[in-house]
Amino acid sequence: MSNLTMIAVKSAVGQPLVLHEIGKPSPGPAQVLIRVHAAGVNRPDLIQRAGKYPPPPGAPETLGLEVAGVIEALGKGVTRWKAGDRVCALVPGGGYAEYALAHEGSTMPLPESLTYVEAAGLPETVLTVWNNVFHMARLKPGEAFLVHGGASGIGTTAIQLAYAWGATVYATAGTDEKCRLCERLGAKRAINYRTEDFETVLRDAGGVDVVLDMVGKPYFEKNLAILKDLGRLTYIAFLQGSRIEGDFSRLMLKRISVSGSTLRIRSDEHRGMLAASAVEHVWPWIAEGRFRPHVSAVFPLAEAEAAHAKMETGDHTGKIILQVVT
Ligand SMILES: NC(=O)c1ccc[n+]([C@@H]2O[C@H](COP(=O)([O-])OP(=O)(O)OC[C@H]3O[C@@H](n4cnc5c(N)ncnc54)[C@H](OP(=O)(O)O)[C@@H]3O)[C@@H](O)[C@H]2O)c1
Repeated sequence: MSNLTMIAVKSAVGQPLVLHEIGKPSPGPAQVLIRVHAAGVNRPDLIQRAGKYPPPPGAPETLGLEVAGVIEALGKGVTRWKAGDRVCALVPGGGYAEYALAHEGSTMPLPESLTYVEAAGLPETVLTVWNNVFHMARLKPGEAFLVHGGASGIGTTAIQLAYAWGATVYATAGTDEKCRLCERLGAKRAINYRTEDFETVLRDAGGVDVVLDMVGKPYFEKNLAILKDLGRLTYIAFLQGSRIEGDFSRLMLKRISVSGSTLRIRSDEHRGMLAASAVEHVWPWIAEGRFRPHVSAVFPLAEAEAAHAKMETGDHTGKIILQVVT
């Protein structure tokens, strides 16, 4: 392999993920080139691979939304980073590779207490949770918070951050084992949605102020039922349907706000603002040991296919990571 090429994972609809050699990218203005040590696997990667989530204009075709590694080169105008800095970054694509480009604002210092593998699981989940739960739904210390899919990458992050913030945390998950994990991470009570009705449990508990939902349709009315007056419902995905019918009068009666967002299509400026805010507020929690990404499986880059198969089965918890440098 020459200095001008690198190994990356090639994806095509209906085809297995395989390694191939492609041109090594070079950083443009305001970009940094990162030698990738580890890359996070996210549910949106599986959706993109299936051809249902095309990369935004200008983004690399290669999968991968988050990486951790070492800065190798700087684009024009970059002053806040230098070659050799250990970082993690949100990338618009291209994370499943030996090198990836990141905008300088979406690049964050690698927390000293974390390995590259752990830090590769930070950017997508932390910025998504930080944006939706803390910026948009304005969770306050002392409030009650419910996250659906509590054992997921997003869920394990949301539980820990909300708990560190001083909220009372509830979660749903699909097995008793996953529920116990949620409780070890800080949930006061996790509800196995296959054997219990979260609406009944949380109505009995007095309701919640904020719900972070990734399930959608079947949970809409139940979420409205358990939200308190001035409650906030925020969406990051609709795993079971985004076309929703329900009794919207509850929104008026309880003055409930509904919001949602998706990170990937937001501007570099917005993502940079979120990254700076997360580094200011969440990185100290990492240093204090109050938040640590929960990584349950690590695969070599060459086994990206097996990593996707693992996520497809749904029996993982927290993050699945691809290790690029061992
Ligand atoms: N909007 C954004 O900016 C953004 C950013 C990142 C991710 N996302 C989305 O957020 C979701 C989580 O992402 P991830 O990477 O953390 O994926 P993941 O680990 O695969 O999480 C999916 C989770 O959904 C849970 N789930 C499925 N049906 C459920 C139900 N009926 N009730 C409760 N939980 C249910 C699963 O839990 P069980 O196994 O316990 O059923 C699983 O833990 C994905 O849909 C992803 O596309 C959105």
